[in-house]
Amino acid sequence: MRPVIEVLGGYEALTRRAAELFCAWAGEGTGPFRVALSGGRTPRALYEALAGPFRERVPWPRLRLFWGDERCVAAEDSRSNYRMAREAMLDRAPLSPSQIFRVEAERPPAEAARRYEETLKREFELADGERPRFDLILLGVGEQGHTASLFPGSPGLAPAPALVLDVSVEAEPPRRITFTLPVLNGAARVLFLVCGADKAGYVRSAIEGSRPAIPAGSVRPADGELRWLLDSAAAGQLKAR
Ligand code: 6PG
Repeated sequence: MRPVIEVLGGYEALTRRAAELFCAWAGEGTGPFRVALSGGRTPRALYEALAGPFRERVPWPRLRLFWGDERCVAAEDSRSNYRMAREAMLDRAPLSPSQIFRVEAERPPAEAARRYEETLKREFELADGERPRFDLILLGVGEQGHTASLFPGSPGLAPAPALVLDVSVEAEPPRRITFTLPVLNGAARVLFLVCGADKAGYVRSAIEGSRPAIPAGSVRPADGELRWLLDSAAAGQLKAR
């Protein structure tokens, strides 16, 4: 399936569109809506919007929230993706702790990865060799074209059976827990949120590159929708628009 590309005027318009899509997709079914949240800065306004102006449109009791990656820091560390989501949304939304599946990134990295993989297997009732099918995975694109915490050359890019890995990356902080590429590509929907001219080259490479030259370009759900929400700056180097 070809990716859906939407270019929005700016960060506010992109955030509003992402919230609209989130609510529409979450409202489609009746069972649990299992989402992997992204970290970094870009999705913060989306989380705030869902707990704020879009609050009444979110089917909160059906949400099950996971993280596609996490930094190996304590939950209250300012670099924690969980902390960002907690401040922006979790503390302000009608969610019970049983709906939130935090990466225990304060543990030794290999243990944190192993325990999170066990969480996925339990919550998705996976048999050996099966991968989870998230209803939605939110992603961003960062330096070197990384997504989640899959940087160029990452073992998580290989078609291995692992669902979750602890990795060392060339970014701060260097130790991360991340979904592997097969988990990202097993999703029913992947939504990239990308803003800023500094991302335009990565966006072009990921969307128009002849081969996946960067990790973000390797995200192509085998049986799911891939959608990019871009501000005009991040879309600035795309040819076919
Ligand atoms: C992380 C994220 C990472 C992020 C990109 C973009 O833990 O940092 O999961 O993959 O999405 O680095 O980050 P910004 O949105 O801050 O540009």
